[in-house]
Amino acid sequence: VTAVPVAARLPEEQSAIRAMTERCRLVGGVNLGQGLCRVPPPDGLLARAAGRLATATHTYGPAEGTSSFREAAASKVSRHNHVDVDPATGIVATVGATGGLSAVLLGLLSAGDEVLLPEPFYGYHLAALRAFGLTPRSVELRGDAWTLTAEALRCALTPATKAVLVCTPGNPTGHRLGPAEIDALADVAAAHDLLVIADEVYEHIYFDPAPHLSPASHVSLTGRTVTATSLSKTFSIPGWRLGYAYGPERLISRVRLAADTLVVCPPTPLQDIAADLLNVDDSYYGGLREGYARRLDRLATAFVSAGCDVRRPEGAYYALVDLGRLGLADGTEAADVLLERCGVATVPLEAFQLDGPPRPVVRACFSVPEDELDRLPDRLEHLRGPVSAGPPRPGPPTHSTTQEGRS
Ligand SMILES: Cc1ncc(COP(=O)(O)O)c(C=O)c1O
Repeated sequence: VTAVPVAARLPEEQSAIRAMTERCRLVGGVNLGQGLCRVPPPDGLLARAAGRLATATHTYGPAEGTSSFREAAASKVSRHNHVDVDPATGIVATVGATGGLSAVLLGLLSAGDEVLLPEPFYGYHLAALRAFGLTPRSVELRGDAWTLTAEALRCALTPATKAVLVCTPGNPTGHRLGPAEIDALADVAAAHDLLVIADEVYEHIYFDPAPHLSPASHVSLTGRTVTATSLSKTFSIPGWRLGYAYGPERLISRVRLAADTLVVCPPTPLQDIAADLLNVDDSYYGGLREGYARRLDRLATAFVSAGCDVRRPEGAYYALVDLGRLGLADGTEAADVLLERCGVATVPLEAFQLDGPPRPVVRACFSVPEDELDRLPDRLEHLRGPVSAGPPRPGPPTHSTTQEGRS
């Protein structure tokens, strides 16, 4: 394996999604690009948090997180994810799921290892793999249902494959792994002794009645899976940077060491407050889903009325919008037309792919304030009439050095 110098593992420039946010700000547009999670936190949270700050711990905390946070998280994992976790040894508080994933990669893999990455993928996953000197291997998700199959996983395997990184519900597809896909994942992982890394930050946001399925709850995956999740999306507090990773002790002990090395600990006073959130009544999650279902309906209606096709996601808070009917060539062109003609920022699907073919599809985030959704139908009126994508642009984004698809 040729070693890549550490600094060269980082992208050369900031993500295309952050750049789109800036372009959107300059035109005073509606930002459906970056997945910023711009819905209000739960009622009363901020007032309670302000009260608790006075008595909270303000010094460094344990590397694995405060005991109240770990106990609340372990009990939540047992209730909702059907995985038994020892709060003393099986869980680590992290700086968001992002911090958890970094600690998993640093603690459990070695530079040169290959990691299977179902595509389309979340851009930070690709960037983090590369930053830690790991090699991503794209796994093709089948058809418009984005189904994960054992065959596709096997096709991407090499002798250097050590892990598979799945995301359910997925960003940008919204696809939720079902029982047959988790069986397939379990078969391949067991046959090739792979570590399974599961990103489940959108576990509580979904639009059909079937409950969320955590790969770690599968009997043959429990012992080889580390799950990274967070409070960011579930409680609309991504700025708090609070999450946790859980799994078997032999894996979590290494993750804890890596997390300590990277950041010492996540914000201690916020962990004390977050423990209460994790113990929230189950009815909260139903309300969260209702709010997102309403936003999805409004977003889909606006785009469909403007002549676009919308693939309704199974979960997460992004919809894939196809502008093919307007005669556009690829996602970059589609995103440019939406921004330049309508002042609506989105992200081209190519930003989430290494190998997939260009399609006139963009990702539109609906975790946005309701008044921005109010403005959408008027804005999209400008899609009517002949569409041109403006002046010629450079080719579609590439992942060779830049990092796309973040957030
Ligand atoms: C799939 C996925 N994982 C992780 C994150 C980041 O989560 P956190 O705020 O917990 O670091 C995001 C944010 O957009 C995401 O889409």
